[in-house]
Amino acid sequence: MNENQYHGAFQTQVPFMEQVRQWNVAYEEKNGRKRRYFCFTMGCQMNAHDSEKIVGMLEEMGYEATQAETDADFVIYNTCCIRENAEQKVYGKLGWLHHLKRTKPELIVALCGCMVQQETVLEKLHRSYRHVDIIFGTHNLYKLPELLDARIQSGSPVCDIWKEQGDIVEDLPSHREHPYKAAVNIMYGCNNFCSYCIVPYVRGRERSREMADILAEVEALVKDGVKEIMFLGQNVNSYGKTLSPQVSFAQLLRETNKIEGLERIRFMTSHPKDLSDELISAMAECEKVCHYLHLPVQSGSSRVLKEMNRRYTKEQYLALVDKIKAAIPDIFLSTDIIVGFPGETEEDFEETLDVVRKVGYSTAFTFLYSKRTGTPAAVMENQVEEAVAHERFDRLLDVLNPKIHEIHSGLVGKTLPVLAEEVSRQGEDMLSGRTEQNTLVHFPGDPSLIGQILPVKLTENKTFYFLGERVGNE
Ligand code: 5AD
Ligand code: SF4
Repeated sequence: MNENQYHGAFQTQVPFMEQVRQWNVAYEEKNGRKRRYFCFTMGCQMNAHDSEKIVGMLEEMGYEATQAETDADFVIYNTCCIRENAEQKVYGKLGWLHHLKRTKPELIVALCGCMVQQETVLEKLHRSYRHVDIIFGTHNLYKLPELLDARIQSGSPVCDIWKEQGDIVEDLPSHREHPYKAAVNIMYGCNNFCSYCIVPYVRGRERSREMADILAEVEALVKDGVKEIMFLGQNVNSYGKTLSPQVSFAQLLRETNKIEGLERIRFMTSHPKDLSDELISAMAECEKVCHYLHLPVQSGSSRVLKEMNRRYTKEQYLALVDKIKAAIPDIFLSTDIIVGFPGETEEDFEETLDVVRKVGYSTAFTFLYSKRTGTPAAVMENQVEEAVAHERFDRLLDVLNPKIHEIHSGLVGKTLPVLAEEVSRQGEDMLSGRTEQNTLVHFPGDPSLIGQILPVKLTENKTFYFLGERVGNE
């Protein structure tokens, strides 16, 4: 381990990493195998990216991965709390781990991520889940080596949660899930306080990374073989507002577009209220920026949108969509929709269906409203009955899915560049990959082609994916 490899706050972790590594080396010498970790990730891409850093640190410390939780010496859950069922799942898992620990007393159990940033959750964990060894939050992920070392030295549980975010810590080791595509955080936190959403309370205020740091990271990734990057932020459209001098997300895209060897740029998530004309032009003009935009609408009712604190109306959203489609005619749009927000009436819901019909999304993530303690919506009157919300949810899919099929039918017969990502679940002689517009395609191909961008003819529209065949591969 080379101390000079790391910069800033993360350097404080180097001695702890070394200490744990030695502890693991001694174990390996005695037992003829490495200690194993099992990392379970819930929730969004931001969490998935955090887990790559967790895994990066664990591997630096001499652990190796196992896919079997029962074989692990260190189990970590990177949690989500955006909806209640994610939390219930964690409590269920913790109960099971309690049993496992009885037969494996050396097992170390760690919990991190959004869920543990909530005080009520922490109280519950301290009260009823004392077998959890290490708890840390979203703001101090980089301290895992120190906390792990403290747990090993003391034999007692350690808990370190920061209520407030600190400075952004750069340069953590990271274990990328894919060799040819990578996620890059461009900002952390959220200032929007949509009334249903817990994220601003658990991820803190909006902070942007310096553009030079982001570009340097992308350049290093490209040197390492990455062809596609995904810029991540809760609200990428307000990137750079907290920097001095201010920069815009459009500027970041234009600079990134110049990086030689990089082929595709994606990003998420865009808040409709902050999507500027400057960004639309950048998307239209930068050839590496994919013609795919995730633009969560949440509801089609202007009244509900106001209650949600989204700060746009149905009409403004539709006008924005029209403007984007005019500037980028082959754009594919995806969205998030919440059904059953407090006070949602049948008429409000009809407005959501109307937006779905008018926009024509290629993908949509649909959610039943989930009450999150601490958010303004949790104490709103007129919470919608579960049965009513479920019934609307089903009707939403009945409108959404044929529309998705229709949007995709426009691609049948076309030959498009597809980044081959992995062996397909459809069969061992098939690969799956994505078009620029994020459409999933399964096509016959050899695993040696993974990581290449290939011309693939889309032959059959299966609504949520395509079957295709490579062109010019004799
Ligand atoms: N209930 C249901 N869905 C929610 N989301 C955020 N908070 C909630 C909630 N309390 C959805 C939104 C957001 C996506 C990431 O999760 O649609 O865009
Ligand atoms: Fe939550 Fe709204 Fe922020 Fe998205 S923009 S993370 S929905 S508060």
